[in-house]
Amino acid sequence: MKYFFLFLIINTYSCEYSSLNFSNGIKAIQFDMDRDAITNLETSQSCKKCHKIIYDNWFNSRHKVSFTNELYQESHKREPRNWCVNCHAPLMKRNGIESNLNDRILKEEGISCNVCHIREKKILVKKLPELKEEKYYHQYKLEADFGQRKFCADCHQFNFPNIESNTKDENFHYSNLEMQNTLNEFNSSFFKELGECSTCHLESYSMNSHSFFGGHSKNKLKESIEIEIEKISETKISIKLITIGIAHSFPTGDLFRTLRVKINDSKSKKFITEIYLKKTYLKNSSGDKNSPPMILDSDNRIEPPKESHVSEKKFIVWIPKNIIEIEAILYMDYLHGLNRFETNLNKNFTFLEFKKKKFILKKLTKKG
Ligand code: HEC
Ligand code: HEC
Ligand code: HEC
Ligand code: HEC
Ligand code: HEC
Repeated sequence: MKYFFLFLIINTYSCEYSSLNFSNGIKAIQFDMDRDAITNLETSQSCKKCHKIIYDNWFNSRHKVSFTNELYQESHKREPRNWCVNCHAPLMKRNGIESNLNDRILKEEGISCNVCHIREKKILVKKLPELKEEKYYHQYKLEADFGQRKFCADCHQFNFPNIESNTKDENFHYSNLEMQNTLNEFNSSFFKELGECSTCHLESYSMNSHSFFGGHSKNKLKESIEIEIEKISETKISIKLITIGIAHSFPTGDLFRTLRVKINDSKSKKFITEIYLKKTYLKNSSGDKNSPPMILDSDNRIEPPKESHVSEKKFIVWIPKNIIEIEAILYMDYLHGLNRFETNLNKNFTFLEFKKKKFILKKLTKKG
């Protein structure tokens, strides 16, 4: 048993990047403009001159707005914790104070070029770029695991705090219940040996490099999620949701995120029913200080694909008799649950409709 714990400690420790100082959100990354930043290249804007496409794509990504976006700002007001900022605006002045937002460096740039690429005036890369001029423009530091799945997982895979850490940041400890489980989901999928997170999301060396598409990308959602509907009796339909090329569960990531499928009578536009795909949690009242503040109650999301690049999930729902044509509307809800009632944000920020499809319900033959 002792050895098992020793293994766990070594294993957790090896997730920390020596050069990047990532810590899975436990502490801020100490960054010193004089020691770390490339001279005169302090902001991401300064990379634009030579890496314009990458800069523009990143500028329009969620990484750019990870601290400033409305959803984050509203939830941060509710829970103003250092822990959150350690992932959403991770760079802090050397010897700064974690709780002092003025000590965070370039927080309006969120997950910036500096966060992922730059330490000690060097550019971190997995392998050196091809040498085209006499000498390199930048100084590089090679980091074998740079950009591999663990690199992304440092922010995209983490647990609930334990009850004791649920409201305070001192002596912070994670519990054993996953809050965002994207890496584990990926590692259980058909895609686990075929590439990394970055193979899909970074789209390196292309016109889309660094766009980091995700749950706010209407076009990508549209092409990655399909719906099929069939009548199975006078009062029942089957709804099949299919993910195409998604290497993890869907939705994944943030715990409020919900995929909603609304079914209307397409003639009268009358509402018939709605399905919600999400995880739900209950409060944990065990009283054990090391346990998580929540218990996973249910999870009906579309699972990671196991045998091919697609994964399916089927629902059977009741409909009134004599309906000839229905319409299905698919949308993301970023605030499902209680937060939906508490929010003051405009719907433009909290919902995204990405697909609408009509289905004619065929008359069933006597036998069927
Ligand atoms: C004056 C032009 C210039 C600026 C400004 C610049 N770069 Fe570069 N960058 C280059 C050139 C040229 C290369 C090609 C390799 C070399 O010469 O070092 C490169 C290569 C890179 C690479 C490696 C590319 C590969 O193929 O692996 C990364 C990463 C990088 N730059 C990041 C940045 C970041 C981040 C910034 C802003 C802090 C930045 N660069 C600012 C010119 C620039
Ligand atoms: C979330 C982390 C992250 C951020 C933020 C980020 N990069 Fe990268 N970048 C990577 C990774 C990982 C790779 C390596 C990709 C690979 O090997 O497939 C990379 C590769 C590159 C490359 C070479 C590949 C290519 O597509 O040309 C350049 C140049 C580069 N980054 C510049 C930048 C600049 C400039 C910024 C800011 C505008 C930036 N990066 C922001 C993670 C990041
Ligand atoms: C330092 C922390 C950090 C690292 C490292 C990081 N991310 Fe992120 N990422 C975030 C945060 C925080 C957000 C949420 C932004 C927001 O508030 O919408 C995010 C958002 C995203 C999104 C958009 C999700 C959506 O729903 O729109 C994608 C996709 C993504 N990251 C992929 C990656 C990949 C791939 C890597 C590795 C190459 C990576 N990230 C590395 C912190 C990080
Ligand atoms: C085989 C390609 C592929 C790989 C590998 C992959 N993803 Fe995704 N990911 C997708 C697609 C496709 C979507 C859905 C389209 C969208 O959200 O725009 C998605 C969506 C997401 C989202 C938004 C989900 C939501 O609920 O809104 C996040 C965050 C994300 N991926 C992170 C990651 C991370 C982190 C990894 C690695 C551990 C990873 N992805 C690996 C293809 C991939
Ligand atoms: C270990 C890193 C980490 C910590 C700690 C963390 N987050 Fe996040 N957060 C992320 C990542 C990664 C995403 C993107 C996942 C996705 O898009 O589904 C995210 C997404 C979000 C979103 C959704 C934003 C959107 O665009 O839809 C909100 C809101 C949010 N976080 C708020 C918080 C708050 C408040 C805290 C503290 C109580 C916190 N986060 C702590 C990494 C973290």
